[in-house]
Amino acid sequence: MSQADQPLLQLRDVSKSYGQTLAVDRVSLDIRQNEFFALLGPSGCGKTTLLRAIAGFESIDSGTISLDGADLLSVPANRRPVNLMFQSYALFPHLSVYDNIAYGLKREKLPTAEIDERVAAVLETVGMTSQAKRRPTALSGGQKQRVALARAIVKRPRLLLLDEPLSALDRKVRNEMQIELKRLQHEVGITFVVVTHDQEEAMSMADRIAVMNHGTIAQIASPQDLYLSPNSVFVADFIGTSNLIPGTVQGDVVVAKNGTTIAMNRHRLGNGTSVMCSVRPEQVQIVETSALTGTVMSTHFFGGESLVVVDCGLGVGIKTQVHSSHVLRPGDTCSIQWDIDSTLVLAND
Ligand SMILES: Nc1ncnc2c1ncn2[C@@H]1O[C@H](COP(=O)(O)OP(=O)(O)O)[C@@H](O)[C@H]1O
Ligand SMILES: [Mg+2]
Repeated sequence: MSQADQPLLQLRDVSKSYGQTLAVDRVSLDIRQNEFFALLGPSGCGKTTLLRAIAGFESIDSGTISLDGADLLSVPANRRPVNLMFQSYALFPHLSVYDNIAYGLKREKLPTAEIDERVAAVLETVGMTSQAKRRPTALSGGQKQRVALARAIVKRPRLLLLDEPLSALDRKVRNEMQIELKRLQHEVGITFVVVTHDQEEAMSMADRIAVMNHGTIAQIASPQDLYLSPNSVFVADFIGTSNLIPGTVQGDVVVAKNGTTIAMNRHRLGNGTSVMCSVRPEQVQIVETSALTGTVMSTHFFGGESLVVVDCGLGVGIKTQVHSSHVLRPGDTCSIQWDIDSTLVLAND
């Protein structure tokens, strides 16, 4: 393997139990240099455990973790070129913003001039120069977040691990910080691994995402590929909004519960396989006439777009995304259709 191909971080068959709980179950993944990587999954699926194992705060039962091809597990946490930014930020309340950021560099006994220069540079990067003398208690949530980030990057780790970094922020600040984090990662050129349970957050920031479920990796792919080609019902359901129509494979079609046949293009599943047909709401169109007619169950206004849920007797209401100028009301009759190419057939887990 050439130097350029070598991943920065490599995990192989990493497992960790707490008593009877298998928190991480044979996880293997590669994270590339300069990547913005997200670990995404529901609460309790093992994300924090995995992050703490990489940082060295948690031992693992089996498997290997290496950085630049060298074993990382034998390196104590404080010697790893890895920084973990805690969910709670963990800023020192009695220290100023400047001193919070300078803390780690002072402990390394770097020359004062160098500390000054590096702290000033990161304060500038996170846009907090004018608040350098303030205490954390005098800062908003978004500002505390910036200080925590500055403190995490000032030591120039090879890898920055962020555990639910934006979860304490309200929605508007969170959306701003998502853009900010991505800019920052690009600017400082540090590899980021962000843990989140929020799929929108992962999708909007990450180059690649590992979707986790019950301690295992369900799929690793770019946000686009996860959305367009989920490999399982779990991923299709977890990423974005999907219509998951239950049915059974019969030759080239899927037969839904009420006998409706759903055409499809690509599948290699045998007759009788219990499946879900996954169709995204934006792929479903409301048309004048079609084989699928139903009743509008509910409508949901989202500004320019609305979501209309139509009951066609398929066992689930079909969500369709329409322009908000298209006014439909509960009880209205309408016909829907979607392109055969946009139907994904996924075997039930
Ligand atoms: N220190 C611990 N002691 C016992 N169980 C733990 C401990 N830490 C985590 N767990 C369990 O391991 C599983 C994974 O937890 P965690 O890694 O925190 O998940 P996530 O960060 O995805 O929410 C959960 O079932 C959790 O209850
Ligand atoms: Mg967690």
